Amino acid sequence: MDTKTIGILTSGGDAPGMNAAIRAVTRSAIYNGFKVAGIYRGFEGLISGEIKPFTTESVSNIINRGGTILRTARSAEFTTTEGRRRAYEQMQAHHIDILCVIGGNGSLTGAKIFAEEYGVPCIGLPGTIDNDLDGTDFTIGYDTTLNTIMQCVDKIRDTATSHERIFFVEVMGRDAGFLAQNSAIAAGAEAAIIPEEQTNFDQLEHYVGRGIRKSKNSSIVIVSESPKCGAMHYAKRMQKEYDGYDVRVSILGHLQRGGSPSARDRILASRLGVGAIQAIKEGQRNVMIGVKNNEIVYVPFSRAIQGKKRMDPDLMTVLDELSI
Ligand code: F6P
Repeated sequence: MDTKTIGILTSGGDAPGMNAAIRAVTRSAIYNGFKVAGIYRGFEGLISGEIKPFTTESVSNIINRGGTILRTARSAEFTTTEGRRRAYEQMQAHHIDILCVIGGNGSLTGAKIFAEEYGVPCIGLPGTIDNDLDGTDFTIGYDTTLNTIMQCVDKIRDTATSHERIFFVEVMGRDAGFLAQNSAIAAGAEAAIIPEEQTNFDQLEHYVGRGIRKSKNSSIVIVSESPKCGAMHYAKRMQKEYDGYDVRVSILGHLQRGGSPSARDRILASRLGVGAIQAIKEGQRNVMIGVKNNEIVYVPFSRAIQGKKRMDPDLMTVLDELSI
């Protein structure tokens, strides 16, 4: 029987733990008798044939590194039929039988379309700091980013209390509030403004004001990024309507995506990588490997990308009760 070759790529925004996932897929594939090809710069590199054979050594000393050694891209060309045709030709030219895509919503949507058009078996690994893929409790990178945000907010707290200020801290997450909500709990913030919830301004004043009027001399509000209603928007309004408050904004930006992955992300990536090869051996295709209640699960692409992952409503209560 011919040895099958698995092509691995990382796509979309990088996430800490992607390297651990590349390592896990590569090592588990080789252990189980597959060949591996590393595809550079995501779908862009697949289209232009930036592909190299991978050995176990190709992935040595990377488990601890943030970013992705394969590099990544958001490929506009792959959204076109012509781009995908060229990608398929490259797969054939490099004798790649199965594609393993590590990325977020956009990347798995690309994999799904490609799989449907060309009948290529694709396996996905959830790699995004946003934690917004359905069918998996956690995505690779989310835990590290949560910890990074928490550490930043701990530092902001020092200056907030010293100056008796209100800080609006803007965090990433695209359309999902997982990072904002959970970092607010972890850092002991007064409130989180997330896309899943309507936060009116009176409510916000209530959250911030109740602490300040009692015992607190400072306040921290975590705001999920949004083009119209980001941290700046709320800070301006707060400053305008309550000029007694000294308000500042801190937009954390891309530092949230960097850094050495946490133990939790390394273990998750390792388990998902081994799970991917197991799925391939079982003949699975066009599924994302996820973790649900600590068990490895196979989630059809169509479900993973549907954008319906819900936040646990109990988290709102936790934040609300503890921020008085
Ligand atoms: O999807 C990951 C993410 O970091 C989002 O949280 C954020 O909205 C986006 O990517 C930023 O993308 P870019 O790095 O292209 O600015």
